[in-house]
Amino acid sequence: MCSLVQKYNVPGPRYTSYPTVPFWDIDTFSGKKWEASVKKSFHVSNSVSGISLYIHLPFCESMCTFCGCHKRITKRHDLEMPYIKSVLKEWKLYSAIFDEKPIIKELHLGGGTPTFFTPEHLKYLIDGILRKADKANDAEFSFEGHPNNTTKEHLQALYDVGFRRVSFGVQDYNETVQKAINRIQPFENVKNVTKWAREIGYNSVSHDIIFGLPHQKLEHVINTIEKTKELKPDRIAFYSYAHVPWLAGNGQRGYNDADLPAGDEKRTQYEVGKELLLNYGYHEIGMDHFALESDRLLKAMQNGDLHRNFMGYTSSNTHLMIGLGASSISDSWYGFAQNVKNVEEYQNLVENDIIPLYRGHILSEEDQIIRRHILNLMCQFKTSWSDFKLHLPQIDSILNRLKEMEEDGLVTITEGSLRINEKGRPFVRNVCMAFDLPLQKKSPDTKLFSMTV
Ligand SMILES: C[S@@+](CC[C@H](N)C(=O)[O-])C[C@H]1O[C@@H](n2cnc3c(N)ncnc32)[C@H](O)[C@@H]1O
Ligand code: SF4
Repeated sequence: MCSLVQKYNVPGPRYTSYPTVPFWDIDTFSGKKWEASVKKSFHVSNSVSGISLYIHLPFCESMCTFCGCHKRITKRHDLEMPYIKSVLKEWKLYSAIFDEKPIIKELHLGGGTPTFFTPEHLKYLIDGILRKADKANDAEFSFEGHPNNTTKEHLQALYDVGFRRVSFGVQDYNETVQKAINRIQPFENVKNVTKWAREIGYNSVSHDIIFGLPHQKLEHVINTIEKTKELKPDRIAFYSYAHVPWLAGNGQRGYNDADLPAGDEKRTQYEVGKELLLNYGYHEIGMDHFALESDRLLKAMQNGDLHRNFMGYTSSNTHLMIGLGASSISDSWYGFAQNVKNVEEYQNLVENDIIPLYRGHILSEEDQIIRRHILNLMCQFKTSWSDFKLHLPQIDSILNRLKEMEEDGLVTITEGSLRINEKGRPFVRNVCMAFDLPLQKKSPDTKLFSMTV
């Protein structure tokens, strides 16, 4: 495995979208085209499955130095209400595009730190959203909670408006690692919030764990998983630390590259961690997610309904996802659009009745076919082009690029289909890269992607 890691560990996308953001054709994109693609998608999505909403809440009280998320560090809680009012105004602008009341199948509050906001303000936000929408019967409402500031009142207030799933950022329990990433977070805090969520009635609690962090050793990863096992979360995201120090203002320069575990060491952390999770009854879902038998993510994977979007893996396969808030990305299946990242600029545009986009991409027919293959690979570890609707004229050159991976036993190619073998699963991003035609034509000039392994 080690030499395979050396061979295939290259910078590569995480494929939360295809085409990936650096390859969006932003010059031919326009707000008008985006609105037309939302209209088209809404028709299909709303009646069949409902739509998804992602709401970005960007504030955090303190900076974790490993963090690659878009956030604003502040202790000013007077920013909460004006921001929420802008999000509700943005929702009103989208509602004007819809020709019937939207049905919300999936709603996710992400960040930053949603629990930076008071329970009353979060309730105000959700009530405002639901004033212009209906909730699907089987709706899935979820949020990201910080174990250091999530209170019983947060959990209760969000439960009362329909939330049943919560994920908590754990990362690692070791003190040296926690100091390096500027995130001191005792086990007790995670234990409390997990217990409260269960007592209140949440049916899916998830923990985020990361391997490959600065100063992190194999024993720390093992210890973190052992402690996590005591709390038995329904889902675990076992992320590879994405080292992206070139992102503006993300503070990852607080430690050196030499403080990070080397490629092979990092891979061993993943391999051993994965083995432990499997031994403790978790099932691997796509890339870097694990779930207990009872969790609906596992059922979605088994039924072939698993979907991947900017929120990560989801069991709700909706066609339209509207992203509200600064930096949020929306997905209409026919196109992507991203909001401006700066909070003040976001608020100004919305106040002036403008959907606050700053870039986007409309998918060509070819993009849509490749996107389907990449989703199949990321969600089911296999794909097929025997159906003419999924045929690509470039398939021979794509398979040529996978020859070496086939010889290494990572993939099996048969007439009209491709399967990623158990041994090849850690390299799923590399397989997707072979299908990524724009990436094959031209690697980006600047550093944009973290390493694949
Ligand atoms: C928005 S945070 C979760 C909510 C809350 N802000 C917190 O930190 O608990 C989302 C998650 O993304 C993951 N994450 C952030 N930066 C990362 C990076 N550079 N590499 C891998 N995972 C990262 C962390 O596991 C984190 O819990
Ligand atoms: S990990 Fe969470 S709390 Fe820390 S800076 Fe990132 S978003 Fe904020």
